[in-house]
Amino acid sequence: MNVRSGICVLGSLNMDLVCQLDSFHKPGETVTARAFHTYTGGKGGNQAVAAAKLGQKVTMVGCVGGDAYGAEYKKVLEDLGVNTQYLSVLPEEPTGVALIEVDKEGENRIVVVPGANARVDEARALEAHLAFMHCGALLLQMETPVESAIAAAEIAHFAGATVILDPAPAQPIPERLLAACDYVTPNETELAVLTGMDTSTAEAALPACRKLIEMGAKAVINKRGEEGALLVTPTGQNLFFGRRVLAVDTTAAGDTFNAAFATGLMMGMDEHDAICFANGAAAVSVTGEGAQSAMPTLGEAIAFVE
Ligand code: RIB
Repeated sequence: MNVRSGICVLGSLNMDLVCQLDSFHKPGETVTARAFHTYTGGKGGNQAVAAAKLGQKVTMVGCVGGDAYGAEYKKVLEDLGVNTQYLSVLPEEPTGVALIEVDKEGENRIVVVPGANARVDEARALEAHLAFMHCGALLLQMETPVESAIAAAEIAHFAGATVILDPAPAQPIPERLLAACDYVTPNETELAVLTGMDTSTAEAALPACRKLIEMGAKAVINKRGEEGALLVTPTGQNLFFGRRVLAVDTTAAGDTFNAAFATGLMMGMDEHDAICFANGAAAVSVTGEGAQSAMPTLGEAIAFVE
């Protein structure tokens, strides 16, 4: 009997400090923002919230500081029904923050100050081993120390869960981590950094995805925004077209994609249908401000893709 179920996320939790600007400014220039907001974010927390909004049973493994941001974030997760048993509150650390600028096209620039996220080490991952052993899918990113991602991925992989790695922010991926992941999901920029190759079009990105397979990835999903997503495996490739929407804020579109892809798989979709579902959910997520507020519910995502 398969007793694994739900989605486990190991990763970062940030408070996003967001300035909305007309356009990105140059070094030395002072500009006035149109608006400022704080939102809960961080790639790990975003993926947990997206999966929870899509109706999945979610466990979050990570760290926040013992400050007001940490308390606010924990409450946001608990209000969504996310299991925070393995969410540590570290009194001596600040919660991670992300300084985000969003221009009027909805594009963003992000600077992350890790704070408590830097304490998500291997020992903390091992404490959560039961969560990794029993989940149906594990979502990882690279905003927390890579040793914890390796430990979590290996436990989940050997237990038979689907392991999905978002290589963001881009940095070299250890072979052990690649070996324990079923899918690696870079966007264009991350794919270019990881391979040193041109990724500016889907056609150009194909050899780069193949190079990532040669480096040890089992399957690559290159997230390309409204252009769609390119799936490359050792035996083939498919381009799944994206949906054009009026983008207000593209922050966390990639996080929504990964959570929705995992959700699709957990709902019994094959990987092609799960990618189409993820393209749709990610498109909905960019139609509102902030990382998490415009992430769709399951009903909204299904209504959009149908
Ligand atoms: O992927 C988007 C996220 O990246 C933001 O929420 C920010 O916190 C950074 O981690």
